[in-house]
Amino acid sequence: MRRTGGIEALREWRAAQTGAVALVPTMGALHSGHRALMDRARESADAVVTSIFVNPLQFGPGEDFDRYPRPFEDDLRLCESAGVDFVFAPAQEEMYPSAPQVTVSSGRMGQVFEGAARPGHFDGVLTVVAKLFHLVRPDSAVFGLKDIQQFSLVKRMIADLDMGIELIGLPVVRDADGLAMSSRNQYLSAADRTAALVIPRALAAGAARAEAGPAAVEAAAREVVAAAAETGSFELDYLSLVEAATFRPCPADFRGPALLLLSATVGGTRLIDNRPVEF
Ligand code: PAF
Repeated sequence: MRRTGGIEALREWRAAQTGAVALVPTMGALHSGHRALMDRARESADAVVTSIFVNPLQFGPGEDFDRYPRPFEDDLRLCESAGVDFVFAPAQEEMYPSAPQVTVSSGRMGQVFEGAARPGHFDGVLTVVAKLFHLVRPDSAVFGLKDIQQFSLVKRMIADLDMGIELIGLPVVRDADGLAMSSRNQYLSAADRTAALVIPRALAAGAARAEAGPAAVEAAAREVVAAAAETGSFELDYLSLVEAATFRPCPADFRGPALLLLSATVGGTRLIDNRPVEF
């Protein structure tokens, strides 16, 4: 890793680049899932920038902004071992010298599911991602598909606002027990983690019924979740089968790419996961 810095250092570094640049945007607390994003970025570009910025705009009141893990030195070590060329780690005052008046609106697709549970979340995500795109000016950007609604909205923003950036999505990276990797998994106790495994199990049970059609997929996933909900530590937020392009519920005769979405709160921690299903 050659450089770490804020906006000024980034601008100077960026001006000297002659090859393709790929961006991996993160909020830090990096794990092997992020490492996989960096490795993918390296394949698609001559230089890789990883941004580390816990974006206050995407956290609602009472959410975990203050306690969000910030192990900066560990993060730098992971970036170093991944061969990242520039770690962009701006201070909050640099990114938001004053509260922004003009922000990106995520539209209808940003108001459902995660957007309904976390009002304003996706406007905050898209606003910071747009800023990162303007600052880094990447040729490509790599995002994880665990946050599939975020990925789909960034894709729409790039298309709708003619940003001309290649968007690369990396399939969900899972731990050996099947749980999708997330920086928030570190909030889980051992018992919570066991309870959380219902999430990948329900998604797998649903996806396994793809040949029987949309209703069967959702019913199979619901059956797994219903058994877990009785234990008390697992609280379902939503489970839904949606058209991948619109996030609208799949009609019974749907043909094409769909997504089985699941969010649950386990021991006070909100977790999300998804599985693609093709009909
Ligand atoms: O997925 C994340 O870590 C964040 O939402 C992102 C894209 C870095 C924006 O803050």
